[in-house]
Parts: sequence; C-alpha cells; structure tokens
Amino acid sequence: MAYEELPRVKIGVQGLDKALNGGLPSGNIVLISGGAGTGKSTFALQYIINGATLFGERGLYISTEQNKEELYRQAACFKWPLLELEQKNLLKVVYFDVMQGDSFIEKMNALVMSFEPKRMVIDSLTTLTDALMVSSMTDEKGFSMVQIADTVSPVPRTDQIMTKSILYKLFKEIKKFKVTTVMTSELPEDGKTLSADGVSEFIADGVITLKSMTVGDSNSRNLELKKMRYTPVEGGLKSYEITASGITLE
Ligand SMILES: Nc1ncnc2c1ncn2[C@@H]1O[C@H](COP(=O)(O)OP(=O)(O)OP(=O)(O)O)[C@@H](O)[C@H]1O
Ligand SMILES: [Mg+2]
Repeated sequence: MAYEELPRVKIGVQGLDKALNGGLPSGNIVLISGGAGTGKSTFALQYIINGATLFGERGLYISTEQNKEELYRQAACFKWPLLELEQKNLLKVVYFDVMQGDSFIEKMNALVMSFEPKRMVIDSLTTLTDALMVSSMTDEKGFSMVQIADTVSPVPRTDQIMTKSILYKLFKEIKKFKVTTVMTSELPEDGKTLSADGVSEFIADGVITLKSMTVGDSNSRNLELKKMRYTPVEGGLKSYEITASGITLE
C-alpha cells in the first residue's frame, strides 16, 4: 500500500501531523524519548485527549509513574477534561504500580480486551522495564517472560539479554492489538542511544526525541522525528513549546 493511502492516527498537534505526512501510521508503536521535564507525559496525555475530543477515538493511558490523581492535576493545568472523557467512556486512565508485583502483560491484555482502545500510552517504558528486570531477578510471579526466555534460549542470563527478552515480548504483545501506541522513554544524556535500554529504539516503529536546552533564562525546546516506519517524514529539528494548551509547534 502506498504511504498516502495508509490509515493514520493523528496526534492532533499542528505541524507534527503534517511532518508525519498525515499522522502516525495506524498500529505503530512509537517511543517518545526525552530527558526529565521535556514534556513526554504532556505529549502522551495530549495524544490521548486529542484522540477522544477531536476524533472520537477511545484512548487508554497506562501510567507507571504518576497516579490517577497526579494525572488529573496535570490535565487540569491544560484544562483537559480528563474526568468528563472517562465518564463518556472515551478515555481510561490506569495507574500500574510496578512495586505490586502483578503481571503487567496480563493487566494490559485484560484492559485492551475490555476497553478496546484505538490509542494507547505507556508512561513510562523505562520504569516498566526496570521493574520487570528487578522482579525477574527476584523470581516473583511479576514477571513470567524471563522464565519463558530462559526455557527458549540456552544462552546465559545477562542483563542485556534479559532486557531484550522483556522488550521483545512486550512489543510482540502490543503489536497483536493493532492499537497505535505511544511509549515514553528516558533519553540518555550521552547521546549514544535513543532510549535508556538502548534496544527499544530498534524494535519500535517510530522514535520521536524531545530535547530541552537552557538559553539565558528560558528553555529552548526541540523535537526530532528520528524514525517512523511506513511513511516518509520531515527531517531536522523542530522547535516546540509547552504552553497553557499543551505542546505546540512553531
Ligand atoms: N501550562 C504550562 N505552560 C508551560 N510549561 C508548562 C505548563 N505546564 C507544565 N509545563 C512544563 O512542562 C514540563 C513537564 O512536562 P512533563 O511532566 O510532561 O515532562 P516529562 O518529560 O514527562 O517529565 P518526567 O521525566 O519528569 O516524567 C515542566 O517542566 C513544566 O514546567
Ligand atoms: Mg513524565
């Protein structure tokens, strides 16, 4: 199929959908990678809110960092009607406590099956994979994936192999849903990789980096479409701002 005919899921941020030639290719898993405070959660929340308000598309937001109350507070900063959209069943916000030791994949599967979202967010992939690594080391039921990886693969359990196994399994599960997914990730300062684990940028269908630099007494922010499978994209750095209405592109 020619890229012009590909179904798209619009982010709803002017300039960004245009740079993507119409929006995210439907079904893609996209990493939003950036340092602390660059606006990853704002971007992810805006993607879900816009989906519901502008396009009537149901969105599921799974947070491993901020609880529901904190997310309501963040949405209120931008006057986004989170509660109202939840009541209309267009949006669902779920806090997943990584310290509880529950199976993330089981929970995600159950949520997607019952809610049937068109869009999904996992904020953040970094916290989730870190926690899955820890629980796999302590051999709790929290993580059954590494046990699967162990039986399949005879190679020693190094950290890197474990991280890869966790990520492959997670991405494979998400791909199965055909839900266009945004996952946030920490962007290491050394610039060597595009995610904290150094693997997910290769497995993801797309990577958008968010960077912030201090210039005088303000922040200069720019984003880059590093990778987006199945569509050509505009290259280069694009300035963005975080304003009272969320992320905006100049
Ligand atoms: N109304 C607003 N106008 C301008 N900037 C704002 C506004 N509301 C929040 N911000 C800025 O947005 C940033 C927070 O964004 P966000 O929480 O999305 O970042 P993040 O990348 O998810 O951070 P973390 O790494 O801590 O998870 C803050 O630095 C804050 O100053
Ligand atoms: Mg955040």
